[in-house]
Amino acid sequence: MNIKVERIDKMVHRVQVFLDNQPRNHTLKLFFPGDIHHDNPKCVRPKLHEHLQRAVDEDALIISIGDQFCLMEGKYDPRRSKEGIRPENNYENYIDRVIKNFDEDLGKYAKNWAFMGYGNHETNIVSRLHTDPIERLCERWRLKHNSPVVPGNYQGYILFDIMFPKDTPSKYGTRFRYVVWYHHGGGSSAPVTDGIINMKRQKVWVEGADLLINGHKHTAIYKPERIITINSRGTIQNKKVDLVRIASYKDEFQPFGWAVEKQFKPSSIDSAFIEVDFHRAQKGGIEMNRRVSYWD
Ligand SMILES: [Fe+2]
Repeated sequence: MNIKVERIDKMVHRVQVFLDNQPRNHTLKLFFPGDIHHDNPKCVRPKLHEHLQRAVDEDALIISIGDQFCLMEGKYDPRRSKEGIRPENNYENYIDRVIKNFDEDLGKYAKNWAFMGYGNHETNIVSRLHTDPIERLCERWRLKHNSPVVPGNYQGYILFDIMFPKDTPSKYGTRFRYVVWYHHGGGSSAPVTDGIINMKRQKVWVEGADLLINGHKHTAIYKPERIITINSRGTIQNKKVDLVRIASYKDEFQPFGWAVEKQFKPSSIDSAFIEVDFHRAQKGGIEMNRRVSYWD
């Protein structure tokens, strides 16, 4: 896949997908793995590999929006626990080991991984230890695996631009855009609402998005919504906005533990696979259809 990923503003990234011909239809495939917490012993790695390999087989772009790492086992971290560290990371250079082992385990998917946002577990390390694990991982993947991946933010827009060649593949004239607003998420778990209230609030103050996607609560929910917009010609448009929350690969439903004492419900993996069909309509213009499904 010929793509270019770049930060174009403080809170805006653009992913350009360059096509080499002029098809009537094109499907953009995006896989959003939920909070991975790769270095946590409770991360269900076989399922993670199954999903990431499936995304690669689908030729999908992998977009993660935070808590790729857990990183709670540093010497000065009050959350540390002897059961929270995997033996391969149990060294003085703990942070470096976690990043190295993430790369060694998941680097084979790096060519499809386009974007890596921040969750509270990564921002905690930046403020506590003054190193940025996302930056470290992304620069390694770009150099070592020729990955397109770039670090994101805690929240922001991602613009997916499908670029169709005008005359020759070196000149791109037509562009179709799919707009995503992501936010890692905040607050505690939402055992009854699964965080839908939170996302409905976002729908009020985020303009222009086709998809609002959140993580963090380790629960999943999908709700298609509608908003009314008006374009520059004064025509009203009834626009679909998908609200999607993705869950987590961390299985916290255990005999003991923090989540058990908080009485959290059973864990769910439920990562989102989103297909966006662009279709040249007979009457001119471009139609867009979307399918949201969950992989568990
Ligand atoms: Fe998380």
